[in-house]
Amino acid sequence: MSKKLALSVVIGLCLICLVFMFLFSFSDGVSSYISDEKTVTDDNLIMVGVSQLGSESVWRTANTESVQNALTRENGYFLLFSNARQIQENQIKAIRGFISQKVDYIVFSPVTETGWDTVLTEAKEAKIPVILMDRAADVDDDSLYVTRVGSDMHSEGKQAGMWLEEELRNKGTFDDEINIVVLTGNKGSSAEIGRSGGFHEIAAKHDNWNILAEVDADFTTSKAKEEMRKLVKKYPDMDVVVSQNDDMTFGAIEALNEAGKTTGVNGDVKIISFDACKEALIMVEKGIINVDIECNPLQGNYISNVIKSLEKGETIQKEYIVDEMVFTQDNVSEYIGERTY
Ligand code: AHR
Repeated sequence: MSKKLALSVVIGLCLICLVFMFLFSFSDGVSSYISDEKTVTDDNLIMVGVSQLGSESVWRTANTESVQNALTRENGYFLLFSNARQIQENQIKAIRGFISQKVDYIVFSPVTETGWDTVLTEAKEAKIPVILMDRAADVDDDSLYVTRVGSDMHSEGKQAGMWLEEELRNKGTFDDEINIVVLTGNKGSSAEIGRSGGFHEIAAKHDNWNILAEVDADFTTSKAKEEMRKLVKKYPDMDVVVSQNDDMTFGAIEALNEAGKTTGVNGDVKIISFDACKEALIMVEKGIINVDIECNPLQGNYISNVIKSLEKGETIQKEYIVDEMVFTQDNVSEYIGERTY
């Protein structure tokens, strides 16, 4: 190989390394990626950095798809997307990355409710509006975010308690002792705090409701199955399982069945679930799950509408609560067909 050729090869390799180092410097080192290369012709696109908290559930996948389908080039957006894999530090790094890239908007779904004041102050100082998606953040100064699009988790928890009151009344067992086990989602997330708080608000009215255990099962099927295997041994007399998402419900039912317990409308253990994804709604229809409190992940268009309003200088609300329903065997069949997730 001639000296000139060898030099060209070395320079070429150095350039490739530099390109990789440049791209990696934009990532959080764990999971972020740049969705596309922005070109000069993209200058009129609205640049949005989205920090999703993870991919722990069917619900979360639907939420991610919803926002990715709404914030497209065709709709006028240039999207940067990052998955924090349930780690708050990854979300903070992603948000800082979006600030340094001077995005027009930051959208993020806070994995926990607290711990955001510093990074959101940095976003505010950089004059980047922050939109909370799905979960809430508890910050000292609520001007650190412009709006939240998501669910009323406290109301969801209350709906669960109110369904149980009605069920016990209808069965003529309203005043009987009732043993309840709760599988919570990640402790400290607004979904857990809201659903636990709402359910407790109703449970507190009933001295005969015994909450035997409240166990964190991470919003995942595998953890719920593992926890329910232990719980059913310890509390074989449980009457009700409140499971704060469908993924955990699937694991809990498997563990209960393994232990010889049946679930649902004619079963040994009543099952109250949250989310209302299609697979769970089919189980409601079959009577395996008694009730599913919907948490609506289809928030992408709401977020796009908020951004378009902000672009026009319009006033927006501090919170947009998405439409949600409660599904039982009585009403579920007419909705299963249209469910996309
Ligand atoms: O914040 C919404 C909750 O998070 C959903 O209920 C759950 O499935 C998800 O992981």
